[in-house]
Amino acid sequence: MEKRFIITIDGPAGAGKSTVSKILAKKLGYIYLDTGALYRGLAYKAIKLKISPDDISNLSDLCSNTKVTLKKMDSQMRVYVDGEDVEEKIRTEEVGMVASKISAFAVVRKKLLDLQREAGNNGNIVAEGRDMGSVVFPHADYKFYLDASREERISRRHKELLLKGISAEYELIQKDMQVRDEQDKKREIAPLKAPDGAIIIDSDNLSIQGVVDKIISYINTNQVFTS
Ligand code: DC
Repeated sequence: MEKRFIITIDGPAGAGKSTVSKILAKKLGYIYLDTGALYRGLAYKAIKLKISPDDISNLSDLCSNTKVTLKKMDSQMRVYVDGEDVEEKIRTEEVGMVASKISAFAVVRKKLLDLQREAGNNGNIVAEGRDMGSVVFPHADYKFYLDASREERISRRHKELLLKGISAEYELIQKDMQVRDEQDKKREIAPLKAPDGAIIIDSDNLSIQGVVDKIISYINTNQVFTS
């Protein structure tokens, strides 16, 4: 039977993981799984219910009472919260920040773990997040850690928001990025780090296509054949 692969891409906010993962998945004919969208989905509901991101009691109830599902659409897994397609609502900076805060809690991580593993069950998937290669898919066939300096990530995020027509102060993005980095890297459970065995790619001086080419070239020269 044909071997089916799991490719993980971890890294900090603004490193270009989503764009790279989407292009890579398309090129390989794989499914793209954006796990940040799951945390964002829960954050979106917490905001809607006015639950504070450090209110562990209400967050636990939220986890018990919320149905998060993934549906495959155009070779991408789309997130549904209580049956609602939340894709268009979870991409704000506010949702990202709350997602980063609530993702530090064990109850939140536990809630989303099996869902992510199930999505990877059949392989041929590019899974992107913070703990893909370290916790969710430690046996992934190829692990990458996509990094970039904070200055570069801030500047990319700033340009991206301006392109979308969203006015964004550079200093505010700078502050948010610093907070996000600290929250994601310093939490006790599943902190953001380069997983064991991951190939680290510094994208400061690379275009998106340059990063994709590096990943493809690595995969082509390091084929894993297991039965
Ligand atoms: O990738 P993103 O910016 O959409 O993720 C939003 C937040 O979700 C991120 O700051 C931390 C959390 N997250 C996580 O803890 N683990 C993941 N695998 C993915 C995201």
